[in-house]
Amino acid sequence: MQVKTVAKDILKVRADTIVAGLFQNVEEPVGAVGALDEVLDGAITKLIKRGEIKGTLGQVTVIHVFGQVPASRVAVVGLGRKRTFDLDVPRRVFAIVARAMRGIGAKKMAVVLPDAGSTNLSTEDIAQAVTEGSVLGLYEYQRPGKASKKEVLRELSIVEPKRKNLASIRTGIDRGRAIADGVMLARDMSNSPANHMTPTDMASRAAKVAEEVGLDVTILDRDEMERQGMQALLGVSRGSAQPPKFIILKYVGHPSSQKTIGLVGKGVTFDSGGISLKPAGGMAEMKTDMSGGAAVIGAMHAIGVLRPRINVTGLVPAAENLPSGTAQKPGDVVTALNGKTIEVDNTDAEGRLLLADALCYGNKIGLSPMIDVATLTGAILVTLGKVATGAFTNNQRTLDRLLKASRVTGEKMWQLPLFDEYKSQNKSEVADVKNTGGRSAGSITAALFLAEFSEKTPWVHLDIAGTARSESTIGYIPKGSSGVPVRTLVQFVLDSV
Ligand code: BES
Ligand code: MN
Ligand code: ZN
Repeated sequence: MQVKTVAKDILKVRADTIVAGLFQNVEEPVGAVGALDEVLDGAITKLIKRGEIKGTLGQVTVIHVFGQVPASRVAVVGLGRKRTFDLDVPRRVFAIVARAMRGIGAKKMAVVLPDAGSTNLSTEDIAQAVTEGSVLGLYEYQRPGKASKKEVLRELSIVEPKRKNLASIRTGIDRGRAIADGVMLARDMSNSPANHMTPTDMASRAAKVAEEVGLDVTILDRDEMERQGMQALLGVSRGSAQPPKFIILKYVGHPSSQKTIGLVGKGVTFDSGGISLKPAGGMAEMKTDMSGGAAVIGAMHAIGVLRPRINVTGLVPAAENLPSGTAQKPGDVVTALNGKTIEVDNTDAEGRLLLADALCYGNKIGLSPMIDVATLTGAILVTLGKVATGAFTNNQRTLDRLLKASRVTGEKMWQLPLFDEYKSQNKSEVADVKNTGGRSAGSITAALFLAEFSEKTPWVHLDIAGTARSESTIGYIPKGSSGVPVRTLVQFVLDSV
């Protein structure tokens, strides 16, 4: 779908559908809705009076028009209470509206931006949110081997009669588009079956992204990883015929600066558990165990398009975790890139193993801060469910900045503690650290394991095992892979300039 601006009066615009937002408890609409109401002989006011139009968040009422305006229908969409309006409202509402309009065969929809009223949200940010919401709401995973569906809803025009506002709306649309494209790339990768998204496939997808948006790409192969000493990562891939890949995407937006932000994503393209095999039921879901890596590649795509004045490097250790005669075994001891030895108590706790080497590598090339994203523990689902991403840090200021970004994007995150007392659970008799910490506080002990490898660098760990996938379509999050937290990573980078 194309998103554009139109400098016209809403009553004169050429589109098959006009969409206008209405807050809850408004009895006499003003502004654009008021003008529409007037040409429709008070139809909107009447429907409000009858209680049919309520203005509740996401309620869509379609009014058919015969001649009063060039459009053939007006869709009034509820914005909820004015008091609770924030950027997530237009994102959610326009995702719902876009799907509803596609459902009734609309091809071109013209929208008036909701009036933020007394809030301090800018026109630019609202235009961005409308773009993100409608583009992300229409997302559908393209099944492999199936011809692409004809795009029904082809165009969204943001209508603004005041020419002086057009430039900022355009900026918002462009930013929203770039970010939504990054999210959809992450969703596509993560929704792909594991036989179509091997470590090699991930690496070639990353190389394609680099080519498209102007990033440097380096792919370390098995031999190079051996030379470097990434035994923890190599151990995970040993059971698989698919070779591991270590993907490095580099964006240089501020060549004279020493500082480079590091984004690190778990890229386990299939997690069977290895020798510590998972039960068969639901195992197919583990094709999404590379969602963190996909989010990093998606964020790097958006960053490459937006080109902020800052440096960012994305690292994705990619491997497949399978059992076989060559697989690593419970009890094996491996040495990570920083020289620390790890007892592999459970081969199913593989994410922390490959992230250990990736964090060491990030340290070696001087990335700071580092943010890692991983579908790391089933335990985070127990703690936070599918609503919020678990957040952990060794540097409160960095996490506070990330949480601030997440409040702008609406991607909910919640901090959990890294108290020293939990550390003893990762103690090993035979190595510096063990890759499991027992049943209690499983997400925290996993994070504390990672902290051994991020060492002194300001670091944030995001456990997305609960939020990476959705069981149903809700607002701009479709069923399947969510693309979380691409938008927050990008927001964090933009805020760091
Ligand atoms: N990829 C899984 C975590 C996961 C579980 C992601 C459910 C999405 C949904 C991870 O590699 C894993 O297997 N973790 C184990 C760790 C345990 C063996 C210490 C877990 O959470 O059970
Ligand atoms: Mn696992
Ligand atoms: Zn895993």
